[in-house]
Amino acid sequence: MTDKKSNAMWGGRFAAGPDAIMEAINASIGFDQRLAKQDIEGSRAHAAMLAYQGILSDNDAAEIRKGLLTVLSEIETGSFEFSTALEDIHMNVEARLKEIVGEAAGRLHTARSRNDQVATDFKLWVRDQIDAAIEGIAELQKALLGQAEAGADWVMPGFTHLQTAQPVTWGHHMLAYVEMLGRDASRFKDARARMNESPLGAAALAGTSFPIDRHMTAEALGFDRPAANSLDAVSDRDFALEFLSCASICALHLSRFAEELVIWSSAQFRFVALSDRFSTGSSIMPQKKNPDAAELIRAKIGRIFGANVALMTVMKGLPLAYSKDMQEDKEQVFDAADNLMLALAAMTGMVRDMTAQRDSLEAASASGFSTATDLADWLVRSLDMPFRDAHHVTGAIVKCAEDKGCDLSDLSLADMTGICPKITGDVFDVLGVHNSVASRTSYGGTAPEQVRNQIKRWKDALE
Ligand code: ARG
Repeated sequence: MTDKKSNAMWGGRFAAGPDAIMEAINASIGFDQRLAKQDIEGSRAHAAMLAYQGILSDNDAAEIRKGLLTVLSEIETGSFEFSTALEDIHMNVEARLKEIVGEAAGRLHTARSRNDQVATDFKLWVRDQIDAAIEGIAELQKALLGQAEAGADWVMPGFTHLQTAQPVTWGHHMLAYVEMLGRDASRFKDARARMNESPLGAAALAGTSFPIDRHMTAEALGFDRPAANSLDAVSDRDFALEFLSCASICALHLSRFAEELVIWSSAQFRFVALSDRFSTGSSIMPQKKNPDAAELIRAKIGRIFGANVALMTVMKGLPLAYSKDMQEDKEQVFDAADNLMLALAAMTGMVRDMTAQRDSLEAASASGFSTATDLADWLVRSLDMPFRDAHHVTGAIVKCAEDKGCDLSDLSLADMTGICPKITGDVFDVLGVHNSVASRTSYGGTAPEQVRNQIKRWKDALE
């Protein structure tokens, strides 16, 4: 019946096969073979439901379900031969199933379409990636907590405008990233809860006249419920867009931290030593140890955010319901997911392996008059000076230290009383960086006791 050269799936309507260029632009098998496992899982659930509803004989369903497992193992062991002529993963699997089980294979596609099939497969795939991302984030948070715990009371400069601002603790700085990553994980969880509705059974766009049970397939595939509108179900790619948005924000956080690691590992800063395992050397400059992993993580946001923009752009003009444009969703998401997971794993390895340089951190923390705010606060507290006046007096004292080329704590009491006669020797208590950080005990502040409380909270949460 069907002309060999025309398509086995729709050859009834077509006299000739496609032009080679048409085949090249049309085929997605080159990339959507990554959906094989999800495609087979979806088909097995569909076949079981069809049989349960009396739409398919138990015998056919059993053959189909068994045959699909054979196809899966062929794909997993690499013996499966993918065909571009068969366009995508759905038709490749079905064609092979026909070779294995014969006629029954032709009944599998009853009451469904590739439109609900691909939406289902892709959703299942994205859902797995969300779970993997949440896990990867937790691993990185644990590595950061390890660093925070080791250096809960180590002092380092805190920056604004990348200028020394006030001393902070190493643990506090590490915990800032734990917080960011916590929001990333929570965003992924929100997206997962929202996307977890099954498109299967929406068929081409309008639903089907067969007495299917969409609740049954939804449950079998781990969805919370079937999607409530068949037009929306087949044309929705919000789940992919949300994944890319969550991934973009997470990658952005990784990039900010990577930037800090690049700066911190430089000879000028020496705040951290990266391990050999996560650095590279130079072919010409023997002294160099380069933070390549950090730089690449910093760059990953580019392609991940690019994928987000690309898919937004693909989707923005599409009328309901399915359009072939939507086939362009997968490569973007695959690439973004691969690179996010890689960046998370690389960052986790780097953080686990890196050594904070406690002495350099402490030495840097005192430079740049980092305790000037402590001095101003002391004037307010001890001399009852209005903060604006205290700011002015402190500015004059900083100027004096600058002229003398020393830190605030190196000034003599006479230097200070020369500017403000009421200052007493007690002032030196607040000019040391350890006293400075210890005094910042407000909730979420940098004091070691606050840092330890937050470490405990996060450790409990991640258990
Ligand atoms: N390969 C297609 C995709 O990835 C599958 C759906 C095709 N549906 C259709 N009506 N042509 O989107």
